[in-house]
Amino acid sequence: MDIRRLEARDIPLIQHANLENLPENYFMKYYLYHALSWPQLSYVAVDVSRPKKTPYDYPKIVGYVLAKMEEEPSDGVQHGHITSLSVMRTHRRLGIAEKLMRQSQLAMVETFGAQYVSLHVRVSNKAAIHLYTKTLGFDQEKTEPKYYADGEDAHCMRLDLSSIREQIRDAQLDAEDDNNNNNGDNNNNGGDEPLDEGDPVGDAGKADDKKALPNRPKETKRKVKVGRALGVQALVEKDESKHS
Ligand code: ACO
Repeated sequence: MDIRRLEARDIPLIQHANLENLPENYFMKYYLYHALSWPQLSYVAVDVSRPKKTPYDYPKIVGYVLAKMEEEPSDGVQHGHITSLSVMRTHRRLGIAEKLMRQSQLAMVETFGAQYVSLHVRVSNKAAIHLYTKTLGFDQEKTEPKYYADGEDAHCMRLDLSSIREQIRDAQLDAEDDNNNNNGDNNNNGGDEPLDEGDPVGDAGKADDKKALPNRPKETKRKVKVGRALGVQALVEKDESKHS
């Protein structure tokens, strides 16, 4: 199984998965709006083990998460939102939804500095409620009556993303420490002296570059006409090799 970012060419397949798995469906342009506006946040699970029948056989998409950033957050806090998540029946309870969600949450923090992520879920959706509250740690904020078109209520949930921010910061600090240790090893002078970067390589690129590249013929400067006053002919590329 491969989890990768949603690409525009995946959209018909995730629309198909959405129609199979959920009563909330969207126009194609709504998927495209997500893919174009926040390309870092939506992911697909692709069954790469499935043998290709023809060279044009597109890999099977078995799950997706469609996510966005809230454009005008009412609380003024930068946060992400899960628009839709689903996994095909044939591939459920393998941890795919959890992986898709975690990947999207990480990208929300890394790319957009999201403070939290929110979502709505039907009050009757036991599987999804388990995933959000027990596996991922979402809090149930409130219940919105008749949120869905068929009159069902929705739980509004949110997950604070500060633990992901800390993980990213710790990883950065570890990488900096490794870097410093490696520099110290290469230095071998106890770290007090500046690093010996060796002798200058040469004068290449300096104004008088004949010294650095003695065999190179001296470049001659040639005046060229530029500007709006030129006719189209003057702008057509010419073979000027004979002139030089
Ligand atoms: N009943 C109880 N718990 C379940 C069920 C179930 N039917 N299915 C999964 N879980 C639990 C798993 O046991 C696991 O719990 P654990 O961490 O304690 O072991 C956890 O949920 C995560 O399981 P995953 O294998 O990652 O979930 P899966 O890949 O099966 O996908 C999903 C779960 C997305 C809810 C899937 O059942 C589905 O596609 N349902 C239909 C569409 C849907 O309801 N989408 C969510 C709508 S809300 C929204 O889109 C914002």
